[in-house]
Amino acid sequence: MRGMAMSKIGILTGGGDCPGLNAVIRAVVKGSLYGYGGKIIGFNNGFKGLVENDAWLIHEEAVSGILPRGGTILGTTNRDNPFRFEIKGEDGRVRYEDCSREAIRHIERWKLEGLIVVGGDGSLALAHRFSMMGVPVIGIPKTIDNDLLATEVTFGFDTAAATATDAIDKIHTTAESHHRAMVVEVMGRNAGWIALQGGMAGGGDIILIPELPFCYEVVTAAIRRRRDRGKKFSIIVVAEGAYPEGGKPCYQEVISGARRLGGIGPAVAREIELRTAMESRATVLGHLQRGGTPSSFDRVLATRFGVEAVKLAHNNRWNRMVCLQAGEITSVPLKKAIAGTKRINPEGRQVKAALAVGTSFGQNL
Ligand code: F6P
Repeated sequence: MRGMAMSKIGILTGGGDCPGLNAVIRAVVKGSLYGYGGKIIGFNNGFKGLVENDAWLIHEEAVSGILPRGGTILGTTNRDNPFRFEIKGEDGRVRYEDCSREAIRHIERWKLEGLIVVGGDGSLALAHRFSMMGVPVIGIPKTIDNDLLATEVTFGFDTAAATATDAIDKIHTTAESHHRAMVVEVMGRNAGWIALQGGMAGGGDIILIPELPFCYEVVTAAIRRRRDRGKKFSIIVVAEGAYPEGGKPCYQEVISGARRLGGIGPAVAREIELRTAMESRATVLGHLQRGGTPSSFDRVLATRFGVEAVKLAHNNRWNRMVCLQAGEITSVPLKKAIAGTKRINPEGRQVKAALAVGTSFGQNL
């Protein structure tokens, strides 16, 4: 940042959407305007908009009323990579090109001081690559998966976990009426945060997470133990990335694009029915967890992240990611933030608390 007031900063939202993205855009636009008299240029559809120069000046009116809205007014994509950008030729053939220089030219053409990238690990890794090429960048962590290393929590996670809890509550009543084993599959990629949080809050009897490959024998023993104690139903919450010991995660059949996790819920339900003769059903929550109005926690966290990102830019502290540590908003170098993913520690306090109230993780712990 040079001079007294900052002139213009770009923003894009990349990767899978999550509740709170609009709250963060609003915070960046208002925080910049009210605090520093700065303007914000929004790129549509993540890095795709940066490559194609699909951008606009986000006026204050455009962010009015968007705080409670799910999704992102900028749009997003979890496929487009400027360093390997998909280009469809006139003959319909697809080829891949490095369009990063073009993207940088667009940043220069808009005379931007730098770029705020709101994203998960994929988008933040791209942001880091641009920073290595000299683009001043600030990262803001978002994802329902809560799997980013440098922040205690990402916005979007609280709302997704609340959606999972609400679904588990609903599944509970029908499980009880029909005396069934009900399996609820939640998202989270290779981390079990939504399963653990939603599963504990919803009183799941068995929680299966990718960090602890499970044994079917232990799962069915837990169900039998409940039956012996007169509990005629069981709730099993399974993270999409969970898998049995010696097995592999389940992937959906995809027509196009990258491999997607999914299908472990129905597989677990089938196995339980086979092994216990107890009627079982599976519900896959899917993208419901990404939608809807953000919780108050996510609205506030997104707002605080947005305001901090603007402050960092104004203070010329680029190439950092804002984060929450010990309840305080702070920042870390972007490079450090993308150095790995945050997964559940099976020895950690939250798992211990779940075990203490009789929750099974499908393992003899
Ligand atoms: O990263 C967020 C997430 O919702 C994951 O939990 C899930 O595995 C993935 O995105 C689904 O992606 P898509 O929207 O491409 O189906």
